[in-house]
Amino acid sequence: MFESVALAPPDPILGITESFNKDERGTKINLSVGVYKDASGATPVLPSVKEAEKRLLASEKSKGYKPIDGDPAYGKAVRELLFGKQSPLVAPGGRAATCHTPGGTGGLRLAADFLATKAGAKRIWMSDPTWENHQAIFRAAGFEVEKYGYYSAASHGLDFTAMKESLGQVKAGDVVLLHACCHNPTGVDPTVAQWREIADLLALRGALPLVDFAYQGFGVGLEEDAESVRILEAKFDELLVCSSFSKNFGLYNERTGALTIKAGSPEACSASLSQLKICARVNYSNPPAHGGAIVSTILTDADLRKQWEGEVTEMRARIQSMRDAFVAGLAAAGTKQDFSFISKQKGMFSFSGLSKDQVERLKAEFGIYIVGSGRLNVAGMTQGNMAALCKAVVAVL
Ligand SMILES: Cc1ncc(COP(=O)(O)O)c(C=O)c1O
Repeated sequence: MFESVALAPPDPILGITESFNKDERGTKINLSVGVYKDASGATPVLPSVKEAEKRLLASEKSKGYKPIDGDPAYGKAVRELLFGKQSPLVAPGGRAATCHTPGGTGGLRLAADFLATKAGAKRIWMSDPTWENHQAIFRAAGFEVEKYGYYSAASHGLDFTAMKESLGQVKAGDVVLLHACCHNPTGVDPTVAQWREIADLLALRGALPLVDFAYQGFGVGLEEDAESVRILEAKFDELLVCSSFSKNFGLYNERTGALTIKAGSPEACSASLSQLKICARVNYSNPPAHGGAIVSTILTDADLRKQWEGEVTEMRARIQSMRDAFVAGLAAAGTKQDFSFISKQKGMFSFSGLSKDQVERLKAEFGIYIVGSGRLNVAGMTQGNMAALCKAVVAVL
């Protein structure tokens, strides 16, 4: 049977790291995969996470299975982050429920399976461009994928007119995937006023919002970044939110995420949760425990939470300082082009405007690895690699 299996191309993002690892040049720089690096170029375990792990190691009594939807304390902590402490959606047994999933990706796939097989959804709209895996996940679950306008290459900002034009064609029952903040790959987010318009328009069209929230705290702040979710939640009786704690807790390989559903009534919510559990059961059965336990420990302990919030602020500030240093470095390396838009983008990524050929030259001539779309991981820049990076970028411009 396997003789007829065709060789698949490498993953468009993770595959670049495979090539990077094979590159023997000592000066190579990897700005492809979305992983935070500190000033020394390392991806650290956050001190708040280390402390939570210490406590968990001392108190853990069993490796028994978790409930299919995870621990209730985890779900409650996730909903608090999403909707705010005062929200009636935080307490269990109401109109919202959370499934602990293997990463944000697991949450997206669970949402896709549930929507396609239990809720009758057929079509999903996603931004052009979007994170590479979005299309693949929803196609794998049987969805028809449509794209909505989002990015203007000319202004390096949001093409809000094009976005509204496309979303105006959404049909009742269509799912619309939105990035809560730190849009991947562009780093361009709607303003609060634009989010209100988006919510109004989608409500008018009868769409179901599905929010992907992979970078809470990396944009403006933990609360500020949730504003988009809260605006949509206020407008919609039904919505889904996928959370990832890979970046803001640095828990990449612990595969820690969640899918939260809000329904029109507690009855519809518990029926939906029962179906979500069926979808989880036939896929990964129940969630990996360790990352979720770390997140709950930190979020439910006042001191640890304060420490973690400080660590998120530090990561966000370092990325911003690298954005500013990159813009200044490009100018110092002699470019006449205006790259100030990079300072205004949010999150880990910068859509640099570099062409496929320029990306190819950066790799071949300088050992600098970025995604073909020109997306750079700003969080991979350091004071140490900045000068060489800027010189190489200006050389290929
Ligand atoms: C927009 C977006 N959604 C979801 C994810 C998935 O995150 P996780 O690693 O938690 O599965 C990522 C990770 O890169 C992402 O950028």
